Amino acid sequence: MEEKIIIRPPTSRDAPAMRDLAEQSHVLSVNSTYYYALMAHHFQETSMVAESNGDLCAFLTGYSPPRHDNTLFVWQVGVGKKWLGRGLGKKLLIELVVEKQPLFLEATITLDNKPSINLFRSVARHFSADHLFTTTPFFSEEDLGAGEEAEHLMRVGPFETIKSTFMYGGTNAYI
Ligand SMILES: CC(C)(COP(=O)(O)OP(=O)(O)OC[C@H]1O[C@@H](n2cnc3c(N)ncnc32)[C@H](O)[C@@H]1OP(=O)(O)O)[C@@H](O)C(=O)NCCC(=O)NCCS
Repeated sequence: MEEKIIIRPPTSRDAPAMRDLAEQSHVLSVNSTYYYALMAHHFQETSMVAESNGDLCAFLTGYSPPRHDNTLFVWQVGVGKKWLGRGLGKKLLIELVVEKQPLFLEATITLDNKPSINLFRSVARHFSADHLFTTTPFFSEEDLGAGEEAEHLMRVGPFETIKSTFMYGGTNAYI
């Protein structure tokens, strides 16, 4: 069967499959189905799913943090086993940046999550943008509790296209 992939905003009906993908990853924190339904409902415009022949193959949940509406924070991005390493994670992030045109893309990542670190670096390269992966934890082990690893901030940007739009009016939109 042809493996055509459709990328679309999630609906609350996708919540169980989004949760399954998080569980399959063995990396992502697995939240309740209610959480995924809420993300799909309230943050539909900044979240995405990829579907092939009726099955969800990847998802991304994101939002703009309060008072930082030029930033898109990626809460979770997960790609199904069968689709790993085939450019799908990168495609979702690129689509998000192209569609939403944030100045910065952010996420927190554990130091040992090479696939995720490389994913964001690759997106930075795609847009010829800078990236910063902080050594100081954004959330420490103490913040997150027993058995959890520290999360470090990854920030990609500013993205050039947006930069030029903002600079046009002579306004410094970086701060
Ligand atoms: C991180 C994740 C979403 C990447 O998705 P993917 O579709 O497999 O990644 P892509 O194929 O788009 O690859 C993007 C870049 O990451 C690199 N990459 C992907 N998997 C990798 C791996 N296992 N090891 C090292 N680099 C890897 C690719 O080489 C590519 O870089 P390049 O463009 O320089 O070649 C996927 O591995 C995943 O679901 N992981 C579990 C969940 C997770 O950790 N999510 C991120 C934290 S929120």
